[in-house]
Amino acid sequence: MNSSLQQCLQIKNSFNVKAFSEKILKPNSIEALQEIADMTEVIEQHFYILGDGSNTLFVDEQAPTIIQPKFSGIEITEHNDHYSVQVGASENWHDLVSLCIEQGINGLENLALIPGSVGAAPVQNIGAYGVEFANFCREVNFFEFASKKLITLSNHDCQFAYRDSIFKGRLYNKGIITQVTLDLPKGWQGKTSYHGLNTLPDTASAKTIMNAVISLRQSKLPEPKKLPNAGSFFKNPVVSKEMFEQLQSKYPSIPSYPQPNGEIKLAAGWLIEQAGLKGAIYKEVGVHKKQALVLVNYGQGTGKDVLSLAKYIQQHIKAVFNIEITPEVRMISAQGEQPFASFTHFTPISELTYD
Ligand code: EPU
Repeated sequence: MNSSLQQCLQIKNSFNVKAFSEKILKPNSIEALQEIADMTEVIEQHFYILGDGSNTLFVDEQAPTIIQPKFSGIEITEHNDHYSVQVGASENWHDLVSLCIEQGINGLENLALIPGSVGAAPVQNIGAYGVEFANFCREVNFFEFASKKLITLSNHDCQFAYRDSIFKGRLYNKGIITQVTLDLPKGWQGKTSYHGLNTLPDTASAKTIMNAVISLRQSKLPEPKKLPNAGSFFKNPVVSKEMFEQLQSKYPSIPSYPQPNGEIKLAAGWLIEQAGLKGAIYKEVGVHKKQALVLVNYGQGTGKDVLSLAKYIQQHIKAVFNIEITPEVRMISAQGEQPFASFTHFTPISELTYD
């Protein structure tokens, strides 16, 4: 190991793969962000913005410069018909959900137990059990590297879509989210239509719904501290109505979610299970036994092992269903974030094992 590598800092990530960076910056003020804006790696775009590392796969052990914002604080303001909650980007998402519910501020209960930081929530517009971040986001404060100023984006400006936003598009790597403001209406109505919550009575309180969501997640999704993972690994694919009808004639029980534009969203977890890959193991990584959309690290698996498994799954699903599934998890190489398709050097898997 050379001297510069010895100075490298290990980066925490929920997949628990080894990853090091020579520079991990933790800005907690606008002045600190202004300094970062002048750094060569920021100008040349060789950096990665990390929240809590719960939706990130470090494919290489060497990672680029990491910027991990440290803006904390939660401020709640009561208005006539709603509560306004201003939250620093580095606060923990689930802690925020619990705090709101405890204080009688309802709305976020379906989003309980989603791992990660508040600042990461708008980037991929986190969602679960029929609710998404965009439903409550009033605005996002964003430090722009080019102008070295804070700008405020309205909900509309954020261009929220399924696991997507402007922060993955036009504003990608153009700055840092420092704070979000949520509007939580007092006229609350619980959302219990999602399978698994639909047995709750109409009168269920937000706390009851939150506890049901917690139980549901705990029954299917492994706790990253016990079995390292990054939640759903792939996004649910959206296909045309024609494609869906062909699939449905072959697989009558295929789960489907019609979209407003007439297309149909499918369940990637179902496709992976149907293709026989649920519970499959490659080296020390695998497809979770209870939720096929989640890839897990049973021990000393590396980023490359997870990549090889993910490539195998993608190719297999393409071969069986002629559908391309793509990761939700962000892929980081030594050079910075890279599209999944650009990783062409991986070990082809010839055989998987099962317990
Ligand atoms: N399914 C299977 N086999 C599996 C997994 C799922 O057949 O191994 C079927 C289920 O039976 C169900 C359908 O697929 O009919 C959908 O499954 P589920 O309700 O578990 O949700 P999901 O589509 O797999 C999405 C989100 C999750 C979120 C849940 C609940 C994505 C990529 N994932 O998963 O988000 O918690 O809905 O709303 O949209 C995350 O992003 O990390 C995440 C966990």
